[in-house]
Amino acid sequence: MKNHLIALLQVSLFLLTGCGQTQIYELNEATAVGVPYQEIPKGLTSINASACGDCHQAIYAEWRTTMHAAAYTDPFFQAYWKKDKQTWSCLTCHTPLENQLQRRITQFKNGDLSEPQFEPNRRFDAQLQQEGVTCAACHLRDGIIYGPYPAEQLNAPHPVAYDERFLSESICLGCHEVAETPFSLMRSGICGTGDEWKNGPYISQGYRCQTCHMPEVTRPLVSGMKSHKGGRHLWRGGNSPEQVAKALTIQVIPLDNRELRVDITNSGAGHKFPTGDPDREVFITAKLVNKVGRDLQTEALHIRRLIIWKPIMIELSDNRIEPLETRSLFLTLPSGQNQELTIEVEGIYQILSERARKKLETYYGLKDYPPVRYQFMQKKFDTLGHELTNRPLTTDSK
Ligand code: HEC
Ligand code: HEC
Ligand code: HEC
Ligand code: HEC
Ligand code: HEC
Repeated sequence: MKNHLIALLQVSLFLLTGCGQTQIYELNEATAVGVPYQEIPKGLTSINASACGDCHQAIYAEWRTTMHAAAYTDPFFQAYWKKDKQTWSCLTCHTPLENQLQRRITQFKNGDLSEPQFEPNRRFDAQLQQEGVTCAACHLRDGIIYGPYPAEQLNAPHPVAYDERFLSESICLGCHEVAETPFSLMRSGICGTGDEWKNGPYISQGYRCQTCHMPEVTRPLVSGMKSHKGGRHLWRGGNSPEQVAKALTIQVIPLDNRELRVDITNSGAGHKFPTGDPDREVFITAKLVNKVGRDLQTEALHIRRLIIWKPIMIELSDNRIEPLETRSLFLTLPSGQNQELTIEVEGIYQILSERARKKLETYYGLKDYPPVRYQFMQKKFDTLGHELTNRPLTTDSK
């Protein structure tokens, strides 16, 4: 009820301000323009990821499997971008280097960041465009390759320098924390992963984004050379059932009065679950099943952030699970002998709804997109709360 009142208030406010803004996030210096044109550093012949991969083979092989590498080619991005009239500002994060842009911004009309003026980009690199969030997007600035080590610890064929941002969240948040617009009627930014983490319990325990998304590894940067402690370039998220499964812990606790409490805890995600793209939704069901497989009771949770996009953007609700928060479902055992009853808990992750997918297919050319809904968890317990089976999941990371 409170949510609806807030929403109503916000609508009135919005109508009063009469702002026709269509941008879904604030355009500031950081979000309006990406990284300026980058020259090839001394000692190298190309800044393409595959060229970096000639030497940094292990990292290149990892990066290639990630959504960062697919940030431009991803059919879901392409269809959505088409739906959003190929707005230039999407590219600030999906192909951040000017080298990756077919058109470059010459200036902003009257200094207004939402009114860029363009000219064709003579130095456009079509291969680099395909690489989305490519190596150079994070590592290359003004002829120097920045990274987590001081130059004197390395023997590199290209200029190198230490940048502390590689060891903190700040390298991620330029793209993973999007400020709300003053008129967007949201309680938090549209992709608020950074703020969710900052307001949660992990920051004080020293967990950074890299702790979970770039697991620590000791290996040579180039095979045959000496080993360093670094991070795997894996960045698994909603497109990985294995990563999503890490978010939750399930416990079944027998209470008095024949009741069972099923505790669902976000014990593994450093931010809300789910996070990021507001299309993500999670469905959890807990069932009481008898020995012939009949469901005696089913309880369910539907977890999501509900946003209305048109005609104006309003956030109606957000029941995503906070880091370390527990949600509970309750089941009641029938009277009599219950030894042969089991409790089955299932989790489904939805990348985008079937309705949204159909729309993108019908109007915006989405095709051959992999499953948009998948099971990431299936667990069985006995009535005393002991876990019976834990079906192994398909592994997608090496
Ligand atoms: C010809 C081989 C070669 C190529 C090509 C190459 N590197 Fe390197 N790079 C190295 C070597 C060697 C080191 C230092 C390894 C050592 O001393 O242990 C290094 C170091 C680094 C470091 C660590 C920097 C620091 O200060 O922490 C980063 C990051 C890096 N390279 C990224 C890249 C990127 C991005 C590209 C492509 C634009 C690239 N490299 C292309 C050989 C190469
Ligand atoms: C230049 C912008 C940019 C930077 C910097 C960046 N990301 Fe991303 N990231 C993206 C984009 C864009 C996507 C979505 C790509 C797609 O699915 O189309 C993404 C996707 C992801 C995903 C989701 C993968 C999935 O399966 O859906 C994770 C996890 C992630 N990034 C983690 C990180 C971490 C951790 C850092 C910091 C070390 C980081 N990112 C830095 C732009 C960026
Ligand atoms: C989204 C940003 C991002 C992209 C894209 C990216 N890196 Fe990195 N890279 C990092 C971060 C952050 C670290 C530091 C990880 C750590 O030490 O915890 C790092 C570390 C490194 C290192 C030092 C060794 C290590 O594992 O720490 C090398 C070498 C490197 N990256 C090369 C590459 C190459 C080559 C590519 C492309 C194939 C690439 N990176 C793409 C963010 C990025
Ligand atoms: C304690 C471990 C942990 C930390 C710390 C953490 N994450 Fe995650 N992250 C996860 C897990 C587990 C998932 C999969 C479940 C989910 O989507 O919430 C995930 C999912 C994601 C996704 C996927 C969203 C999507 O739509 O597919 C992104 C993006 C992401 N994290 C970014 C970040 C960033 C940025 C930070 C730092 C501010 C961070 N994470 C810190 C564990 C962590
Ligand atoms: C400030 C950086 C930023 C901008 C600007 C941006 N995105 Fe993204 N986008 C991301 C990040 C980060 C992710 C992935 C992680 C997540 O779910 O938060 C993502 C994910 C997506 C996804 C989901 C991809 C998948 O496979 O799951 C789509 C679709 C998308 N963006 C489309 C767009 C469109 C269209 C625009 C322009 C209207 C846009 N983005 C602008 C950063 C950005």
